Amino acid sequence: MAERSSFVVVANRLPVDEVTTPEGRQWRPSPGGLVTALHPVLVRERGTWIGWAGGTGDAPEPFELEGINIHPVPLSAQELERYYEGQSNATIWPLYHDAVETPAYKRSWRETYRAVNQRFAEAAAEVAAEGAVVWVQDYQLQLVPAMLRELRPDLKIGFFLHIPFPPIELFMQMPFRTEILRGLLGADLVGFQQRLAAQNFVRLARHLLGLRYEGQMIQVDGRQVKAGAFPISIDTAQMEQLAADPAIQARAKEIRGELGNPKTIILGVDRLDYTKGIELRLKAFRELLADGKLTVPDAVMVQVATPSRERVEHYQALRVKVEREVGRINGEFGRVGVPAVHYLHQSYSRSELAALYSAADVMMVTPLRDGMNLVAKEYVASRADTGGALVLSEFAGAATELRQAFLCNPHDPEGVKEVLLRAVNIEPAEARRRMRVMQRHLRTHDVEHWARSFLNELGVPEAA
Ligand code: ADP
Ligand code: G6P
Repeated sequence: MAERSSFVVVANRLPVDEVTTPEGRQWRPSPGGLVTALHPVLVRERGTWIGWAGGTGDAPEPFELEGINIHPVPLSAQELERYYEGQSNATIWPLYHDAVETPAYKRSWRETYRAVNQRFAEAAAEVAAEGAVVWVQDYQLQLVPAMLRELRPDLKIGFFLHIPFPPIELFMQMPFRTEILRGLLGADLVGFQQRLAAQNFVRLARHLLGLRYEGQMIQVDGRQVKAGAFPISIDTAQMEQLAADPAIQARAKEIRGELGNPKTIILGVDRLDYTKGIELRLKAFRELLADGKLTVPDAVMVQVATPSRERVEHYQALRVKVEREVGRINGEFGRVGVPAVHYLHQSYSRSELAALYSAADVMMVTPLRDGMNLVAKEYVASRADTGGALVLSEFAGAATELRQAFLCNPHDPEGVKEVLLRAVNIEPAEARRRMRVMQRHLRTHDVEHWARSFLNELGVPEAA
């Protein structure tokens, strides 16, 4: 039987990647703010992380990596299709992001989502010590809190939703809405990125189940469930350090050279996802080139679009649209050896991303809806001295905190163009002033602060 832990994280993905080395296949920690923030508390509490290892079929046996017990949960090919691609990413993901693409509803997806959530809950019930704290993460596992409470009423259960939580009218579309709400209400504390999302949740509890609440505290079956906003962040110090590394700075210079040392580099870094507003950003760039307000090669755009959820229909359609737009822009405005848009459908190392952030004069983060958007925060933290300008959608969670960014409404193309031009033409002193204010905020509001705030609220002593 697996070792019992007093602190357990349950997330769809494990914080590890399997890599091939000369010694054979090996696990190594995957970089990410969440695992960095939770590492100290996981190590101290002999913590366990429960999650899917990627792939289908049998899961690897539980193992330890850098002081964390890793507990893989298996998914069959059919479960991958119905629970992950279907219910999680073709129903819940679009619905919670303001239905910017139409959510699809299928009974078989819901049934599999339920079965897989039950498997995660059982794994947590098995590894959690008496009275342990279990922290469940994100929209793939919304039924786990109630399922786990049923199995183990002695546990303290937290849940954090990394994506937006929709207003009542939208949530009400979901066929098994009551079950999802009841699932979340199994937690003692339900955390959201934004205050508005927490409000949507408590109002929904009253609307759908007639539950009473006072402030953010909901009364459920004689228990109290607290809702709250805990905006997630990045490991700011680590990002600052990485970007300041002379090797990264040299690479940034090299990238500028490879791009022909243009006056302005405009950068986008996203998973290739329809919530991210990649097309509208490309369109704004194209129209500014057509209007003669920007010209190639003075201005070039780099768009990194990490492959994501590639078997889901909306993602396939988006890829076609984005690649068509890139082709159109380069066809109209590029020259031999001088494309207007450098499009990279690839994954990058942290250091290459840091170099790209350092090299970029303007970063465009223009989601139609986004729970937080860590890329916006990473860009700011990478710009220790050099200025740079952030164009940021009002519909990204990060916009609540990064008020000195060039904020825009991504649904208004003229507005986006105007803001982009202002960012391109910003005075260096003004750019530095804005960056400094945002950097100060991120130094105190980093991912460790996020984890500590959540766990303190959950009642974990000396959290994180
Ligand atoms: P989301 O969680 O929706 O993908 P975020 O902006 O919040 O959006 O987080 C994305 C994370 O993935 C960031 O930490 C970012 O650095 C990383 N990332 C994005 N694109 C790439 C890429 N091409 N290669 C490696 N990491 C990437
Ligand atoms: C968002 C979600 C995460 C998810 C990540 C990558 O950040 O909130 O839960 O892990 O995207 O998506 P993927 O489907 O590849 O796990």
